[in-house]
Amino acid sequence: MTAPQPAWQRRAYNIEALRSLARAALPKPIFDFADGGAEKEYTLRRNEAAFDGIELLPRPLSGPADRDLSVSLFGKPLSLPILLGPTGLAGLFWPDGEGCLARAAGKAGTGFCLSHGSVVPLEKVAASGTSPRWMQVFIYKDRGFTRELAERAAKAGYDALVLTIDNQLLGNRERDIRNGFAIPPRFGATGIAGMALKAQWLWRMRREIPNITFGNYVRPNETADISTLAGRMGSLLDPAMSWRDVDELRRLWTGPLILKGILHPEEARQALDHGIDGLIVSNHGGRQLDGAPATIDVLPQVVAAVEGRVPILIDGGIRRGSDVVKALALGAKACLVGRPVLWALAVAGEAGVVHMLDIYRREIDRVMGLCGEARVDGIAKDLLFSRSSRPG
Ligand SMILES: Cc1cc2nc3c(=O)[nH]c(=O)nc-3n(C[C@H](O)[C@H](O)[C@H](O)COP(=O)(O)O)c2cc1C
Repeated sequence: MTAPQPAWQRRAYNIEALRSLARAALPKPIFDFADGGAEKEYTLRRNEAAFDGIELLPRPLSGPADRDLSVSLFGKPLSLPILLGPTGLAGLFWPDGEGCLARAAGKAGTGFCLSHGSVVPLEKVAASGTSPRWMQVFIYKDRGFTRELAERAAKAGYDALVLTIDNQLLGNRERDIRNGFAIPPRFGATGIAGMALKAQWLWRMRREIPNITFGNYVRPNETADISTLAGRMGSLLDPAMSWRDVDELRRLWTGPLILKGILHPEEARQALDHGIDGLIVSNHGGRQLDGAPATIDVLPQVVAAVEGRVPILIDGGIRRGSDVVKALALGAKACLVGRPVLWALAVAGEAGVVHMLDIYRREIDRVMGLCGEARVDGIAKDLLFSRSSRPG
């Protein structure tokens, strides 16, 4: 007999429902920290809305009995074409948030990318043993610190290094300003009043809150106080980053090196000349440059520029299995998800993230079945409806 499904799982029947449950569970400043975007949140909205403009053209008469969702990325198998993207301060959403998401990825047979800004240091997260595990870094004014993080990641067995290029100046996140949320977290009077209504989160996090910090930035014999570390991080990011820095990392890192934050097709093409192994088409989930296009809208141009020489991944607004199928049809090899991971963590920790991946898995499988697609590798542009080829 199978165990009855917990109530939260029944209520979390899709990703939007997970978001609603997370909203109910989290203090508003924390929910908004994850949920919000920059300025008017145009790009944030476009990321999701642009998928609605793309339609699927099914061929049910080639319907397979079973679907194979697996893909291989940089020589590693994934059980579905989704990885957990890097999100800072996951440990604010559930105790040992980063450990939870790493273990959940492993259980689901996929991988994760750890944020530079994890609460738990990268070495400790690596102990989950999940592979593939990728480490995300920035270019710092102190280039030695970028090097140090890369060297630590190599030593801890991370498979790939992800250089995020779209965060060298912090985006203007106005929800955080309105809520008085800052790094380090500070809650104004309304924030504290709101928190009182989130008793479960407060109780669960009572031992964690005083220790929330940026684990990778703590140095021996130095205070782990988050304000010291946040100050160092902010002042260290260097807007004057260039291809020379990419070359330097390329010399240092022998495994797959991936650029995250690519939108311009020309920059994608240039990356090939610098020995990059993969690209993530991303606008940081609309948290950085408001007014940037939806990632799914620029994907075809990036795919065309790269001509199949390296795998292209995408993130931003992927909330449905059908979004994943559309991205693959437009040439992505796999997708990453950001906010859904934090919503799932906030709802049920590790079990929440396993459940979230299961939602995507079931939705992708159903969409593939309805479309008559047997294998993820077989998904191509002919699965999409083109208005221009419609007669009359
Ligand atoms: C709360 C939060 C923190 C994030 N932190 C990082 C980070 O540390 N490094 C990074 O490269 N991207 C970071 N991102 C961006 C995600 O990796 C990803 O690009 C984005 O969330 C994808 O869009 P989605 O949230 O619509 O899935 C963060 C996103 C959120 C929501």
